Amino acid sequence: MEVIIAKDRQELAEIAAGIIREQIRRKPNSVLGLATGSTPEDTYKRLIRYHKEEGLDFSKVVTFNLDEYLGLPKDHDQSYWYFMHDRLFNHVNINPSNIHVPDGMAPDPEAFCDWYEEEIERAGGIDLQLLGIGGDGHIAFNEPGSSLASRTRVKALTEQTIKDNAELFFGKDKQHLVPRFAITMGVGTILEARKLLLIAFGKRKASICKKFIEGPVTSMVTASALQLHPNAIVVLDEEAAAELEYKEYYKWVQKMKKEEYQKVLDRLAQ
Ligand code: F6R
Repeated sequence: MEVIIAKDRQELAEIAAGIIREQIRRKPNSVLGLATGSTPEDTYKRLIRYHKEEGLDFSKVVTFNLDEYLGLPKDHDQSYWYFMHDRLFNHVNINPSNIHVPDGMAPDPEAFCDWYEEEIERAGGIDLQLLGIGGDGHIAFNEPGSSLASRTRVKALTEQTIKDNAELFFGKDKQHLVPRFAITMGVGTILEARKLLLIAFGKRKASICKKFIEGPVTSMVTASALQLHPNAIVVLDEEAAAELEYKEYYKWVQKMKKEEYQKVLDRLAQ
């Protein structure tokens, strides 16, 4: 796992958006896995800017979102479908038929989940999956105890997730309005992406970041499954990185990569 520590939220978003821009430039028909929530908002703003100012081309990009609340229609202003259109899709030249967000109103949610898995496969698999992390260590809505081999399915949300989402999206006193279930990609589905990019910022995420990066791999902290992936990048700001035991080492590795590694390669090539 590569751990990059940015000085603040802005730098974090710049690094994350830079990695996604690079992916799209290298492979214009990239299949991107996308996340919602407060964490990727600044990253999406930067991608919109790259589209408007530099012509970053989304016309061949295919996207699959991680999750959606069960029972919320697309046009509900708290649905993830709405969030993604509002924060990204409506502002770039993506082809609407290339967008996939789980359907929270699917009459047979389990059949829908199987279809979603097949669609990912038909698209050739996910090239780059963007992830946030919940306070309980979840990636997508894989709450504690989710199998590390799980596939797209319906999950019951934990009390903490319901509370966090109530505060962030619905207002503190609206906890009763947060849906209790979601359709979510599984941990196994996520681990099949060719590259993972998890981002997190703020003090609120510091203790869970220490757990998933430096603690054991466990289904009780599903983000710890990133340790099993050969190509996972984690970008944190200083606050989210505050409790990492090897924080200075991660910074040193990044510095050496920038300054020294090329010199070593040059020397070996002589
Ligand atoms: C959203 C998702 C969730 C969030 C996580 C963090 O699509 O999959 O796992 O990434 O709950 O949410 P924020 O970014 O709001 O702290």
